[in-house]
Amino acid sequence: MCSRVIITVVMHDFQVLFDHGEHSELLDPAMAPYGKLGFPAPVEGRPWIYANFVQTLDGIVSLLGNEAAGFDISGVPEDRWLMDLLRAYADAVLLGMGTLREEQRMARPRPRGPVFRIVDPGLQQLRAKLHRGRERNVLVTTRADFQLSDYAVFDGKYVDATVITTREGASKLERQSDSHPFVDIIGVDSGEDKKVDLRQAVAALNERYGINYLLYEGGPALYSGLLTAGLIDEKFLTVSPMEVGRLSAFGLRPSVLPDVGFSKEDAVRWHWLSCRRIGDFQFHRFRRR
Ligand SMILES: NC(=O)c1ccc[n+]([C@@H]2O[C@H](COP(=O)([O-])OP(=O)(O)OC[C@H]3O[C@@H](n4cnc5c(N)ncnc54)[C@H](OP(=O)(O)O)[C@@H]3O)[C@@H](O)[C@H]2O)c1
Repeated sequence: MCSRVIITVVMHDFQVLFDHGEHSELLDPAMAPYGKLGFPAPVEGRPWIYANFVQTLDGIVSLLGNEAAGFDISGVPEDRWLMDLLRAYADAVLLGMGTLREEQRMARPRPRGPVFRIVDPGLQQLRAKLHRGRERNVLVTTRADFQLSDYAVFDGKYVDATVITTREGASKLERQSDSHPFVDIIGVDSGEDKKVDLRQAVAALNERYGINYLLYEGGPALYSGLLTAGLIDEKFLTVSPMEVGRLSAFGLRPSVLPDVGFSKEDAVRWHWLSCRRIGDFQFHRFRRR
């Protein structure tokens, strides 16, 4: 006998406390739970880059262990839906290889890890109306010491994929290109320190694919590099009403800037653009001054 379990997810509308953001390019019923959402024109020569994070009240972005993902901190369907809404506007989603590795290690949502794509059908349609094209996941790695076949994201089934790495990393990964013809490899570094040049990397995304809006979904290590390089224009931040502290059996839990320490003068400062709530959860939007 075959039985089916139907799970109904109850979504609440976001309560808008204030919103000084741009008016929507398009007023679509699919956006109704959030209300208006628009973005400014992209910066010349590179995409407009907006990050999306969830953190605890005390600023932790990963609980580590087997509860290391952002969803372990948010846990509400509205935050998952908001991620889809932000993906609908993005030409591509950018991530550090650490986030993919962790989610694959936890077998979330399947043994070979996630594909970072829109699942809400209404928001898939919104993306089509916005003419954003096929979804693309872009992974950044310095070491490039993995097998593409270990990760579902490189299968080419739901999204196109790009790996950004150093020139040395690119030549390593290109050896696997025969089995993964749909994964594009970009090697960009300054030549001296053998690190990925992040400015060159995002300019290459703009030039190669015409990417104007780039959504950064984590994690903290690559965020630190992008922020330091002046490449984060905005951040959407969900604050979950829990406090956990830094200590865990698996090490120190990271904040969004684990390896960075700016002076007061050099602190990155933000305009608070909008604020929404659902119950005890806060949904902020900040724009870099
Ligand atoms: N709360 C949230 O919203 C949220 C969002 C995303 C992720 N997370 C969580 O954060 C954790 C992962 O954190 P993470 O800091 O390790 O992940 P990450 O930033 O996604 O990835 C770090 C890796 O990215 C590459 N990388 C980072 N900076 C680079 C740079 N400047 N140039 C070139 N490559 C660079 C390196 O890859 P190689 O080692 O391959 O060289 C590095 O090990 C996971 O538990 C994840 O679930 C939470």
